[in-house]
Amino acid sequence: MNKLCLITGATSGIGKAAAKELAKLGFDLILTGRSEEKGKQLSDLLNEKYKVKSEFIRCDISSLKDVREFAEKVKSKYDRLNVLINNAGSRFSEYQKSSDEIELTFATNHLGHFLLTYLLLDILKKSDNARVINVSSSAHYGKQMDIDDLVSPKEYNRSLIYGRSKLANVLFTYEFVRRNNNSNIVMNAVDPGGVATNFAKNEGFFRWLKHIGFYIAKRQLLTPKQGAETVIYLASSEDVKNVTGKFFYEKKEKRSSDESYDLNKAKGLWELSEQLCGVKFFT
Ligand SMILES: NC(=O)c1ccc[n+]([C@@H]2O[C@H](COP(=O)([O-])OP(=O)(O)OC[C@H]3O[C@@H](n4cnc5c(N)ncnc54)[C@H](OP(=O)(O)O)[C@@H]3O)[C@@H](O)[C@H]2O)c1
Repeated sequence: MNKLCLITGATSGIGKAAAKELAKLGFDLILTGRSEEKGKQLSDLLNEKYKVKSEFIRCDISSLKDVREFAEKVKSKYDRLNVLINNAGSRFSEYQKSSDEIELTFATNHLGHFLLTYLLLDILKKSDNARVINVSSSAHYGKQMDIDDLVSPKEYNRSLIYGRSKLANVLFTYEFVRRNNNSNIVMNAVDPGGVATNFAKNEGFFRWLKHIGFYIAKRQLLTPKQGAETVIYLASSEDVKNVTGKFFYEKKEKRSSDESYDLNKAKGLWELSEQLCGVKFFT
């Protein structure tokens, strides 16, 4: 039986490239995102080209209601999950709120994935050695976590708010591992590098150009396939099947920011996330 992997943000960029490579390796796939058209096109392509079973199920990850409905659909069809890739993410020029009245970057990049992981925990536990991969960013470096400022930030600075949401991905990873001491699930975070994707296109052409121009100037711009390499490595390599609670860059462990190792910040984020989602992860 093929292993099963769920990828959020599979309709574009790093998630799409990871889906193609994992299908090539023989994984069955659950793909999600908001664009039905792109998602369906990709699952048809993967099924035809690699003879795997993949399907697209729509979900707006920023909406807690959508995440709950999505998880129900997944669990009604699948009784085990080997790999969860929490990849969907965005940055926004203007302050916006999610349908739950939560700042949209935090809701999209962290909170929806926190709830999704919680809701899929029982089917992850059912597979031997399940793996969860959280796609973070180098943007988390230098950012401080202010727990009281996440839901309704007093000031909106898009880089700070985005970097903080990517810091939340790392804090979540470490805190999950500290709390989850009796299950077979490993969890790691990844900085994919600077990747030429649709990221930042929602902010307009010049912001997108500035984003990729930064990495072009450093001669570090990656293709989506290259940007997905560490994600695929963590999802599939035997070398890392027991590695947990680490931050990866270029398929190697790397130290994340000092702030990401702050136990009080991790605890605060965890408790806030549980409260906003109305769940209790580990009892
Ligand atoms: N590109 C980079 O240089 C870079 C660097 C560091 C980290 N990252 C991280 O890499 C991850 C993937 O980004 P990318 O570069 O591949 O960008 P991308 O090409 O823009 O892809 C983003 C994906 O996220 C999905 N998505 C966005 N908002 C969503 C929502 N509300 N609900 C469901 N899906 C949503 C999009 O799907 P739909 O539009 O179909 O919803 C799309 O599939 C992000 O977490 C980003 O922070 C990227």
